[in-house]
Amino acid sequence: MDSAAPKKKYRKKIIAGNWKMNKSVADGTDLARLVCRDLDECREVDVVLCPPFTALKAVGEVLDHSLIKLGAQHMHWENDGAFTGEISAGMLRDLYCHYVIIGHSERRQYFNETNETVNLRVRSAQAANLIPIVCVGETLEQREADETEDVIRSQVEEGLQGVNGEDGGLIIAYEPVWAIGTGMTATPEQAQDVHAYIRSIYGVQFGEAAAAGLRIQYGGSVKPGNAAELLAQPDIDGGLIGGASLDARSFVEIVKAALPDNGAQAEDTVA
Ligand code: PGA
Repeated sequence: MDSAAPKKKYRKKIIAGNWKMNKSVADGTDLARLVCRDLDECREVDVVLCPPFTALKAVGEVLDHSLIKLGAQHMHWENDGAFTGEISAGMLRDLYCHYVIIGHSERRQYFNETNETVNLRVRSAQAANLIPIVCVGETLEQREADETEDVIRSQVEEGLQGVNGEDGGLIIAYEPVWAIGTGMTATPEQAQDVHAYIRSIYGVQFGEAAAAGLRIQYGGSVKPGNAAELLAQPDIDGGLIGGASLDARSFVEIVKAALPDNGAQAEDTVA
């Protein structure tokens, strides 16, 4: 018996569509139907659709009995109470959401989201059995000032302090702010470097086994044309797709680029 043999860790790719503030109920259900038609039998990749709150119920009905899961884009950390305009984790569970995006850079930029409020939301989501997709990423100024690792480290350490970091408990999405909706994608090497860094600091925080199982999505101008190359990187375990998820054909192509037989790497080696 060779106890020194490296352990292999399989991480199934996960592709999520973040529709942001787009799609009426009618347009959203049409899009979900098209995605379901092409991807319903897809078992090798986890697929998630994150419509706006107003379309969650109707899209959830389209996804009922399919392998595609429903996600929300945001939530409040309190269970209920006088928080006008807010939605709780329990309410999202009520609508059969499995995932919730937390700390998206647009929330950080326009709605005062901080690492502290990210932390509250992640805890509340996990307590309700929702899987948080926790977004981290640096701005262009931070990258140019060589602060990328510092920014990411505080987003991970503070945002995830005291949460359940075990296998499957959460997903991290690395989204360089300068690449979101700009058409500027990180190169596969740039993205891989930050993903590997995230996995290493996650290992310090939660242990090597948890880090080896952590799925880290890349987001920021992912398109059918660049998805395969990004998804082939050893530490890129999926994508959080904005603009390209609004069109069924391009979203489906991105999911297909994540299939293991498409060259997307599925294994990691843990020393
Ligand atoms: P994008 O958005 O794909 O339109 O760049 C990604 C995101 O913000 O999640």
